[in-house]
Amino acid sequence: MKKTIMDLDLTGKRVIIRCDFNVPMKDGKIIDDTRIVESLDTIRYAVGQRAKIILLSHLGRIKSEEDLEKNSLTPVAIRLGDLLRIPIRFVNRTRSEKLKELIASMKEGEIILIENTRFEDLDGKKESSNDPELASYWASLGDVFINDAFGTIHRAHASNVGIASLLPNAIGFLVEKELNALSRLDHPERPYVVILGGAKVSDKIGVIQNLVEKADKIIIGGGMAFTFLKAAGYEVGGSILDTENINFCKEVLEKYPGKIILPVDVHASVNTEENSPSRIVKIGDLRANELGLDIGTDSINLFARELLGAKTVVWNGPLGMYEIPKYSVGTAQILRFLTEQNIDTILGGGDIVAASEKLGYKDKVSHASTGGGATLEYLEGKELPGLKVINDK
Ligand code: 3PG
Repeated sequence: MKKTIMDLDLTGKRVIIRCDFNVPMKDGKIIDDTRIVESLDTIRYAVGQRAKIILLSHLGRIKSEEDLEKNSLTPVAIRLGDLLRIPIRFVNRTRSEKLKELIASMKEGEIILIENTRFEDLDGKKESSNDPELASYWASLGDVFINDAFGTIHRAHASNVGIASLLPNAIGFLVEKELNALSRLDHPERPYVVILGGAKVSDKIGVIQNLVEKADKIIIGGGMAFTFLKAAGYEVGGSILDTENINFCKEVLEKYPGKIILPVDVHASVNTEENSPSRIVKIGDLRANELGLDIGTDSINLFARELLGAKTVVWNGPLGMYEIPKYSVGTAQILRFLTEQNIDTILGGGDIVAASEKLGYKDKVSHASTGGGATLEYLEGKELPGLKVINDK
């Protein structure tokens, strides 16, 4: 068991909290603030404990000078201040004398947000390569380190692993909540069904390898289903194909007969335009110029039958192009079925969480993870460096 924020004395201490404020942005505006909202419990607790709070986060990936402006954490500082109703002092440098002075003059309960940790990547990838000098600079700003950045827990960067290895540390409430949900999958109540979607098989190979033995069934939809269907001998028209992984799919289908459930029909069109004519067609009857963009009605019924009686479901990747309403039906209907049946359902971050939000099911499932890559790596059974470095109780 890892130490949690409740195990440390924070009063009067300079507490560095690593959050994942890597929120989607468009034209300088935050388009989904879930990750900020999910960080509030930990920050509020630290305020309540009269800590001096220093927040760190990355935003996007920084490869050139042009990336700096659009990836500043300024909009996050404003949103966070609004949500907390506490003014946030934003420091637009990742290191500076002013930052040190400001921290030295902090009062209990005050909050500072430091600029995007990945600004340090511009000069030799210092953040992403866990540069020891950078880690010890940041560690020198605090007395205690809390990792609450679940979305980044699969990274070994200076602002999570580097600082944690130098200071007394613990996980925050968000990381604790995520781990509580995901660890239910280590000893799941059965039947345990995995649903996988999204475009590419290559993104899910590790998950399939790790879960194919553990799960009772794996239901596959989305673009990746066509590579499995091709491997099963069907013509898939112009649908997306991950040709390099057809053999992998063939091996899985042969080794685990009956375990992989594939669509039997699809909603197809000649392109991805919303207004183009579309039709529901049996797998195998797709014309050469048609692409499957969602699962069809028979597949929805088949998937629901396979899910009936399931006790645990983990789901990563939507079953169709949910961004277009007429191709969101498969994902929406299966979400509806799972929530109506009260099946313990964990959504594994990224696109499926965005889809569940858009379709109105996010608050109805048992858990919607804030981690995309992090959740996938957990499901692949990989060690998470940002967690490993945290001390045990
Ligand atoms: C994410 O959005 O998955 C996390 O914030 C990690 O971001 P990264 O993939 O750029 O490291």
